[in-house]
Amino acid sequence: MPRSIIAGIGMYVPDNVITNNDLTRHMDTSDEWIQERTGIKERRFAHRTKETTTTMGVEAAKIAIERAGITAQDIDFIVFATLSPDYYFPGCGVLVQRAMQMNEIGALDVRNQCSGFVYALSVADQFIRSGMYKNILVIGSEKHSFGLDLTTRGRNVSVIFGDGAGAVVLQPTEDEGRGILSTHLHSDGSEAEILAMYNPGTHANHWKEGLADFDEAEMANMFMSHQMIDNAQLYPNMDGQAVFKKAVVKFPEVIMEALTKNGYQPADIKVLIPHQANLRIAQFVQQKLKLKDEQVYNNIQKYGNTTAASVPIALCEAWQDGKIQNGDIVCLAAFGSGFTWASALIKW
Ligand code: UT7
Repeated sequence: MPRSIIAGIGMYVPDNVITNNDLTRHMDTSDEWIQERTGIKERRFAHRTKETTTTMGVEAAKIAIERAGITAQDIDFIVFATLSPDYYFPGCGVLVQRAMQMNEIGALDVRNQCSGFVYALSVADQFIRSGMYKNILVIGSEKHSFGLDLTTRGRNVSVIFGDGAGAVVLQPTEDEGRGILSTHLHSDGSEAEILAMYNPGTHANHWKEGLADFDEAEMANMFMSHQMIDNAQLYPNMDGQAVFKKAVVKFPEVIMEALTKNGYQPADIKVLIPHQANLRIAQFVQQKLKLKDEQVYNNIQKYGNTTAASVPIALCEAWQDGKIQNGDIVCLAAFGSGFTWASALIKW
């Protein structure tokens, strides 16, 4: 059975840099608070009309495809991970197919938030291993800036997130010594609402918190309403501390699962690319696994948390910086809303 290799990788971030001080113009926060709690110094916000989740994904994809030495017409399947799609439906995959004038290939959207890219990579890996496809484009992209409550009311969520995209092209290899060694996917939906955007949705009041202003009959008929806008119920909700506590357990667990499966130890990792959720989480994971500084790649300081885009952006930068060479063991790991968490172990 062939393995998948990352034949090309690319990233795109908007030019528009938003510093922590910029945010203080809109909300009661400070550079000190944000840096101390998250490590973030700045993030990028997409152009409001010229850039979308899809257009950023396409820019990253163009680079990945060129580096793979193929053309957009050689791509035979698209997997697109995002929580901030251009449309409620259809997904961004078909918009990439259109924008890049690809053949009438399959296009799949993955909705697994922070672990979306690792899930998407795993899906693509199975298609390569089974022999079904030969050139799969996997994209993670987010335009968070459009959907954040950039007032003091939403500061616990909105200071964290940034926009950007990353993409890879997966191809099969018969080289036994290389490729994606294994992927590991998990979920626990028992606390799904802890990090969630409830509206617009079809939940019809199954989840009541934050909807207290409505009686059940009224709510059951509502997909979107003026009241939802007035009460800020069209923004993401997050219990940050609860997410943090779970993340610092599940990250090391799923990394160890990948290492153990392949007979490796933490010391064998050349570079760990953790989802860039919060620098403090990454530092906690590093400490727990006794990894050296040079074994963990973080760039949240520059881009904030770009959710499904954070792993491919960090992977791309680490590779561009020469931190990843052929034969190196690279571990990707992510945790987030759902909860879902995942890892992938790659021999580059
Ligand atoms: O990738 C998606 C997954 N998400 C995550 O991984 C997030 C994980 N959690 C976190 O990163 C952290 O919980 C946060 C960075 C979100 C928050 O840090 P925290 O240390 O857990 O702060 P907190 O929510 O407990 O809030 C502490 C205080 C509160 O004030 P009081 O009640 O102590 O007076 C908040 O109101 O900080 C206040 N606060 C802020 N102050 C200034 C919350 N947000 C802000 C802000 N600026 N942006």
